[in-house]
Amino acid sequence: MSVPEATTETTATCEVVFTPSGRSGHVAAGATVLEAARTLGVDLDTVCGGRGICGRCQVVVGVGEFPKWGVTVTPDHVTPPGPLEQDYRGRRPLVDGRRLGCAVGIVGDAVIDVPSDSQIHRQVVRKGVMIDDLVLDPIVSLHYVEVPGSDLDDESSSAFDQIAAEVQRAWSIASLSPAFVTLDRLHHALTAQDGRLTVAVRGGEVVNIWPGFVDQVVGVAIDLGSTTIAAHLVDLLGGQVLASDGRMNPQIRFGEDLMSRVSYAMMNPGGATALTAAVQFELDALVTSLLDEAGLDHTLVMDIVLVGNPIMHHLALGIDPAPLGQSPFTLAVATSLELDASAVGIRCPAARLYVAPCIAGHVGGDMAAAILSEGPHRSDARQLLIDIGTNAEIVVGNRDGLWAASSPTGPAFEGAQLSCGQRATAGAIERVRIDPTTYEPRFKVIGIDAWSDEPDFPDAATSLQITGVCGSGIVEAIAELFLVGVIDADGTIRGERAVATDRVVADGRTFSYVLRRGEPELLITQADVRAIQLAKAALRAGIDLLLEHAQIVEVDDIRLAGAFGAHIDPYHAMVLGLIPDARLEVVRAVGNAAGSGAVRALVSRAQRREMEEVVGRVVKIETATEPRFQEHFVDALAFPHRTAPAPHLSTLVHLPIHQPRAAARSGRRRTDRQCQPTPAPAVRSGLSDEEMP
Ligand code: FES
Repeated sequence: MSVPEATTETTATCEVVFTPSGRSGHVAAGATVLEAARTLGVDLDTVCGGRGICGRCQVVVGVGEFPKWGVTVTPDHVTPPGPLEQDYRGRRPLVDGRRLGCAVGIVGDAVIDVPSDSQIHRQVVRKGVMIDDLVLDPIVSLHYVEVPGSDLDDESSSAFDQIAAEVQRAWSIASLSPAFVTLDRLHHALTAQDGRLTVAVRGGEVVNIWPGFVDQVVGVAIDLGSTTIAAHLVDLLGGQVLASDGRMNPQIRFGEDLMSRVSYAMMNPGGATALTAAVQFELDALVTSLLDEAGLDHTLVMDIVLVGNPIMHHLALGIDPAPLGQSPFTLAVATSLELDASAVGIRCPAARLYVAPCIAGHVGGDMAAAILSEGPHRSDARQLLIDIGTNAEIVVGNRDGLWAASSPTGPAFEGAQLSCGQRATAGAIERVRIDPTTYEPRFKVIGIDAWSDEPDFPDAATSLQITGVCGSGIVEAIAELFLVGVIDADGTIRGERAVATDRVVADGRTFSYVLRRGEPELLITQADVRAIQLAKAALRAGIDLLLEHAQIVEVDDIRLAGAFGAHIDPYHAMVLGLIPDARLEVVRAVGNAAGSGAVRALVSRAQRREMEEVVGRVVKIETATEPRFQEHFVDALAFPHRTAPAPHLSTLVHLPIHQPRAAARSGRRRTDRQCQPTPAPAVRSGLSDEEMP
């Protein structure tokens, strides 16, 4: 959403960009970050009103090249810490690397990140965990013993020998060795409660030890996404999810999508290190937050499972992601890893880290975990599993074979880079319907129960500002506009509809649709349609390519994973052609399948082995080097598709006939006939080279 610029002719101004919102504009040199945020409508928290007391306004000042915004930032573009920050002693500690937004002045172009805990309306992270039919196979076992004569007077054996002997005797364990982290705790554990103690054992190793009786150890399953990081704290012995949390990936300030972060790492000295530090800080904070919520101690964490796409995987582990930015997209390592949790900056002294295996250069451990969760390899049904983020990861197949690929969808489905777009936070339009006769819209907003045409809506809308349209909202809006004939099958907003409705307005050389009047006015512009069209075509081309390789004409089961998949309406997705034609009832959202798979791997050794075995069997398809991908992409640009029939969708709705742009311009009359397969014409995308994937 555009924001008026706060420029004057007489005052020096600086350009400031806020992430993750993407809001930008000019402010007077010397304005504080808090003042700039207020001027530009950025969601930055404060309780003390800028007096340097509350600590709620903490921000991170970006430094380096930001080609996306055409901004170069050096440290002297903001004022150095002054007395207000140096003397700050508030209840919320000032986190390392952060500044108080009310104290830091902007004196040059700046990129400012507002961490999720500094936002008043925090990201609605809608990632649940769905697990059925899981049999526990714990990685760690607990053993309580009472060691006789445990006063350390026995010179004939060490503290560990005494403990191990009793554990082996009482629990019939063949042999034990001590883990390094337990060494300085052995004496204390043995004597503190007269030999009554509990040990945690993993594969013949004593990995933790406590005086007295302990009956709970926990683990953390983490889905490291490029936009959000979701984590579940799990009782390792009972399998219960004790706490769940999610937060924005702080790397967003370096770039919205994966490739822009790789670019940042390549273009800025120390860039990769900064990306790694940012995400490792957040991983540690997330684990601490989960433990605090559950009232548990760090020493109880014995195991952590991390799943993520290859670039997140590399950056979390401190591996240079540059080779993943160019063909042949070679991974540094693809197999699963077992490390100390400290390898990714998580400060749980006894915790081990299991990093899920990557499938290919663009298909990571998150998809391996999603496969584990959704089980196409355990089924006869031909499944299409899609995880839609800034990169869509796609798997097709069943127990007879699996094919996987990723497609560069970009951030449009998350509402980014659209004139009215925003992430799925309170105030975002998430559902849209358009009357086929009047072309008037009705919509639903996150945080308001009523639809916009219902009596309760006006009151609710006065207390919650409507700020933009999120990904599911934009998909529904464009699908509805296509169905009512405001948008052509080739994605053009039809200017001639301006005669019938004042919702269609001229916008330079193209037309826009006014989704919401008032402040702010929200438009669906031609550029917005094009951005969704490109993202959709990239996704669909990847799907069609895999179906072609798998020789599958129609799938039996479509599962939409991830935050976007959880909220996109299957009907509207099919109208736009995001997913291939199928019976609507076989399409379902599966939530955070990667997170669910991570929980499975956390509580079950057998599930880890199953995931590793399946990953070894997946056929990898590289969309960037497959010639057929381009052809599928061009065909997929049309709504719902240029060549694929839509027999199932056509039973639900009369689709406007596919009409190539040339025909529309020739003035041929449109009909209401159902969509028919169009003979494949010579390839004509209408796209510039830059727009081709
Ligand atoms: Fe309260 Fe900055 S606004 S410390």
